[in-house]
Amino acid sequence: MSLYIGLMSGTSMDGVDAVLCRIHDQRAETLGQVHLPYPPALLDSLHKLCLPGHNELVTAGEADIQIARLYSQAVLALLRQNNLNADAISAIGSHGQTVRHHPDNLYPFTIQLGDPNTLTALTGIPVVADFRRKDMALGGQGAPLVPAFHQAQFATEQRTIVVNIGGIANLSVVKRGDVPLGFDTGPGNTLMDHWINHHLQQSYDTNGDWAASGTVSQPLLNSMLSDKYFAQRAPKSTGREYFNSAWLQSQLAEVTDPLTPADVQATLCALTANTICQAIHQFKDVAHVYICGGGAFNQQLVSNLQAGLGPVPLSSTAGLGIHPQWVEGAAFAWLAFANLNRLSANVPAVTGASRGALLGGLYLPD
Ligand SMILES: Nc1ncnc2c1ncn2[C@@H]1O[C@H](COP(=O)(O)OP(=O)(O)O)[C@@H](O)[C@H]1O
Ligand SMILES: [Mg+2]
Repeated sequence: MSLYIGLMSGTSMDGVDAVLCRIHDQRAETLGQVHLPYPPALLDSLHKLCLPGHNELVTAGEADIQIARLYSQAVLALLRQNNLNADAISAIGSHGQTVRHHPDNLYPFTIQLGDPNTLTALTGIPVVADFRRKDMALGGQGAPLVPAFHQAQFATEQRTIVVNIGGIANLSVVKRGDVPLGFDTGPGNTLMDHWINHHLQQSYDTNGDWAASGTVSQPLLNSMLSDKYFAQRAPKSTGREYFNSAWLQSQLAEVTDPLTPADVQATLCALTANTICQAIHQFKDVAHVYICGGGAFNQQLVSNLQAGLGPVPLSSTAGLGIHPQWVEGAAFAWLAFANLNRLSANVPAVTGASRGALLGGLYLPD
């Protein structure tokens, strides 16, 4: 059997992307997709869990099960949509929803919710989950984990960079025969999502139209770019526990110019583009940049990126055979495949772990 389902819920917290893949010769072909959004009450709990708060353990315990039930609905919809029974699927690779990621603490930890026991029981399919903690146990960041997949899927004879723009943005540098490189570049959509939600009660800035209506504030952009994360050398990973509304407020407090909310949005969009381009420019001889994740649908962001990249061609991963919304889901299908086939899937050069390792735990339905 070579059919796998990947479940991805990223830092945007927009819900779950479920992707059905056939994996052959270490490469994934996407056969079907389902997206289910988080119901508002669950989303509210998840936002609360990202920060210290009241009654965290009960909220987390309940969210763990609620997420797994939503995931199982996504899997069952995918099976129905493709006329498949549970026993046609080798395994589900389930990322879970990150609510805390602290790789640099004295006791480094990361927490992903979405109980794999519930998921295997409700779907009847083996589940591979908890992908990040083995890498962290070996001294790694536990992130990003997608470069091994990007390498297997997208590497050619020329150096290529794949940028995933989710809540946080990360990139992978791949070339056939090379060890891939990669790291989190910083905020992707998360600050833009927060700002438009706060001012216009929209979950995101469709096409980047609001950002396009504002003017970039150079003082605010410079202040944000001086954050130490951007100059830090890889291995590095980050999350919304760092790049969040408190971070943005502290940046806004540095600037005296009068700014409209649209100007701030324009500047946040420029920040994402600028930090991604800065990260890409560290690498020589880049033949092509491919983008995926929801940020690939933000036209203003894409044009800022293209402007910052100059002559290097930029396009979405659709040109490589996977629609940008489904690349990360496909990566977790591939990581489940790697687990069942006993392939080491972390890249020590990326995460900083002391060695490559088998990632994830296997949960069986019986
Ligand atoms: N049409 C669009 N225009 C602008 N931004 C979009 C669009 N569609 C999705 N996005 C952005 O992409 C995000 C979701 O991206 P996703 O890749 O799912 O991130 P994550 O992996 O963090 O969940 C949304 O929160 C939004 O910011
Ligand atoms: Mg998402």
